[in-house]
Amino acid sequence: MSEPLATSHQGMEDLARIIIGEEELRQKVRELGAAISRDYAGKDLLLVGVLRGVIIFIADLLRAITIPVSVDLIGISSYGPSVKTHGVVRLTKDLEEPIEGRHVLFVEDVIDTGLTLSYLLRTLRARGPASLRVCVLLDKRAHRLIDIDIAYRGFELGDEYVVGYGLDHRQRYRNLPVIGILKPEKY
Ligand code: IMP
Repeated sequence: MSEPLATSHQGMEDLARIIIGEEELRQKVRELGAAISRDYAGKDLLLVGVLRGVIIFIADLLRAITIPVSVDLIGISSYGPSVKTHGVVRLTKDLEEPIEGRHVLFVEDVIDTGLTLSYLLRTLRARGPASLRVCVLLDKRAHRLIDIDIAYRGFELGDEYVVGYGLDHRQRYRNLPVIGILKPEKY
């Protein structure tokens, strides 16, 4: 096998525990891609992701979709240094293309309180897409403050703050090929 071992990544030693391994992630993304390809067959599908956490997931998901599909990215920054936003976000990069009349699938790495996503969905809905649905890799349902209808869900997570597969802690660990919990002293 030419694939590098997960343990060869610097930073893996900072994990207390791996929650979702590489093969499990691959399998789930394949399943999501197949379901999306079935459901959107014959439609003008546009994936929209939020920078930066979603980049790995959306890149893999895009390749697992077997029907014609486009992709666009939106950039946000939360006001204040707090890890958890309060739903007040600033657009730092808008979409490149109009979404009016298109079938938009919003792709998120993790939904926690749902505040960020609900703000973004409101913004996008106002632009008149033909449909607007949500695909999320990690759903922290217990933390939800706003009810959000999720069309495609990868995994449900508990309370823990996770890193890897695009997710960061202070901009580190996005490159880890697994999703895990950091050792307490690393937070
Ligand atoms: P929400 O507005 O509370 O749903 O926040 C969602 C955002 O918080 C995500 O897009 C992530 O940027 C961040 N976030 C929430 N939980 C985690 C986590 O466990 N690891 C890394 N980032 C997280």
